[in-house]
Amino acid sequence: MKFKGRDVIDINDFSKEELLYILKTAKKFDPAFVKSKKSNYTIAQGKIAALLFFEPSTRTEQSFKSAAQKIGMGIIGFDDPEATSMHKGETFEDTIRIMDAYADVLIIRHPEPFSAKRAADVAQIPVLNAGDGPNQHPTQTMLDLYTILKTFGKLDKLKIAMVGNQKHYRTMHALSAAMFKFSGNKIYGISPKGLEMPAEFKTKNYEDVTIDMRKLNQTLAEIKPDVVYAGRIPKEYMKGDISKYTYQMSIKTMEFLPKHCIIMHPLPRIDEIDPNLDTHPNAIYFAQARNGLYIREALLSLVLGRI
Ligand code: CP
Repeated sequence: MKFKGRDVIDINDFSKEELLYILKTAKKFDPAFVKSKKSNYTIAQGKIAALLFFEPSTRTEQSFKSAAQKIGMGIIGFDDPEATSMHKGETFEDTIRIMDAYADVLIIRHPEPFSAKRAADVAQIPVLNAGDGPNQHPTQTMLDLYTILKTFGKLDKLKIAMVGNQKHYRTMHALSAAMFKFSGNKIYGISPKGLEMPAEFKTKNYEDVTIDMRKLNQTLAEIKPDVVYAGRIPKEYMKGDISKYTYQMSIKTMEFLPKHCIIMHPLPRIDEIDPNLDTHPNAIYFAQARNGLYIREALLSLVLGRI
């Protein structure tokens, strides 16, 4: 398995064995598994991460910054492209070429699909896709897999109900593709009509469940999922009144689910999860976000060939 110098653009670029290796490496950074207080600061000391955020972010940007600094890297970059020379008309490709000269790894979020691939085609150093519009968000998928593995001790023979807009939700696209690599999983994509999973992301284990939002609890009771993966309505990629598309979950929803079923969400959540669910032991979305730190420490260490 070779990770040094590698781009992380599309979850389908990684085999099941490679994904498992990344998850195993993340355990080395997770205090749940590593009791030693030894610092990881020397892993990538002297290396620089450039974070190029053309679209807003809290978790991905800040956890990458934290992960990079925890393994000793310096960080450069921007989250306001208008404050760069693109404001003067410099192209995306030239901007990437310049940042490539100043850093050892590029982390890019951009509203356009395949923009991370465009960056990787120009850059000499590894490019990590931190979300390319409605297409994919592979490092989120890796932390989702890590969270499921940490909870159930396995990534196969699981039923996952993905609740929300399947059409524009990049983390659902990539999670479905990733779970297909493991055996016996079944994905139910619960969505309003017209927001089903695009054909290019539909795997053989995926089933569209197109329902009115009032039928959510009843539908979940019939599916009996191990994981409910909720998502916000990505209004930045949609037009018109989006409120009619929101499925709402609350503490009441738990009555319709198997006792062991966990609730995941990549966050941010807006109206789709009532805060009264937050203290339920099976609501693990904040722990899920924390896992992003360990996955990103592992990925940076791997692509730099330092672990
Ligand atoms: N999950 C996620 O990508 O969150 P941010 O948009 O805050 O980075």
